[in-house]
Amino acid sequence: MTTLIRARGLTRRYPAPTARLFGPRAFTTGLEDADIDVREGSAVGIIGESGSGKSTLVRLLLALDAPTAGTIEFDGRPVDAGASARSLHWLRRQTGIVFQDPYASLDPRMSVGRIVGEPLWALGIEGDRRARVREVLEDVGLEPDMAERFPHEFSGGQRQRIALARAIAHRPRVLVGDEPLSALDVTVRAQILELLGELRARDGLTLLLVSHDIGVVQNLCDEVIVMKDGRIVEEGPTEKVLLQPQVSYTRRLLASIPVIDPGVGGRS
Ligand SMILES: Nc1ncnc2c1ncn2[C@@H]1O[C@H](COP(=O)(O)OP(=O)(O)OP(=O)(O)O)[C@@H](O)[C@H]1O
Ligand SMILES: [Mg+2]
Repeated sequence: MTTLIRARGLTRRYPAPTARLFGPRAFTTGLEDADIDVREGSAVGIIGESGSGKSTLVRLLLALDAPTAGTIEFDGRPVDAGASARSLHWLRRQTGIVFQDPYASLDPRMSVGRIVGEPLWALGIEGDRRARVREVLEDVGLEPDMAERFPHEFSGGQRQRIALARAIAHRPRVLVGDEPLSALDVTVRAQILELLGELRARDGLTLLLVSHDIGVVQNLCDEVIVMKDGRIVEEGPTEKVLLQPQVSYTRRLLASIPVIDPGVGGRS
């Protein structure tokens, strides 16, 4: 199977808030020396305590931030996060992202149709864009006519569907979710989880999912990456990592999070 995303030695250091006058330059480690291979069509979960570098990692992989060191290839093509917005169009066309907060991530002044269609216009995607917006709204379980309405008219769960519709409107090959389900209640979470599984099965979408929720990872992901202090400390098939963690940090992390539902293990 094709390796869609390959990163080597990926590192991101942030300047420390209080710079020292003398001595070595102070910095905070966001990510340190990460190697990653994401196979096309796979679903990879990223877990780790707060501040372990999960968001830093996915931002770098999508060239939303530039690494201090290291390389990234997307489908064999080098990714240069420092390049102009236009010269990153090829990458933007193939990737989509959903964030945690369905309230903060949608511009309240824009109609749902404009929000969802925005990537189609911004990336110069050909075809009947209005029709595509209606189609993708249906894909995420909303009414096509909702395109005329505004975000404040929707519940949190509906807004997250809108955010998801926008992330997949341009038919990306990879969808990245940075805690996309955390702000939702259990029922809505289950619905969106099911939806992601369907999109994956139907369109062969590759998923990269940051989550605190082990149930979500177990349900959707076939591989898991475990992060601590900016480093990948364990990775492997989901059942293996969740049921037989090799590293004591992973064991502690899993113990600190409730539910592991054995019923959803064993999916291939
Ligand atoms: N823009 C930034 N400037 C300075 N430090 C940052 C910045 N973004 C992240 N960091 C630091 O990098 C480290 C990793 O942060 P990151 O946001 O990737 O963690 P995370 O695993 O996503 O955490 P959470 O689960 O809380 O979202 C943390 O120490 C954080 O303080
Ligand atoms: Mg984060």
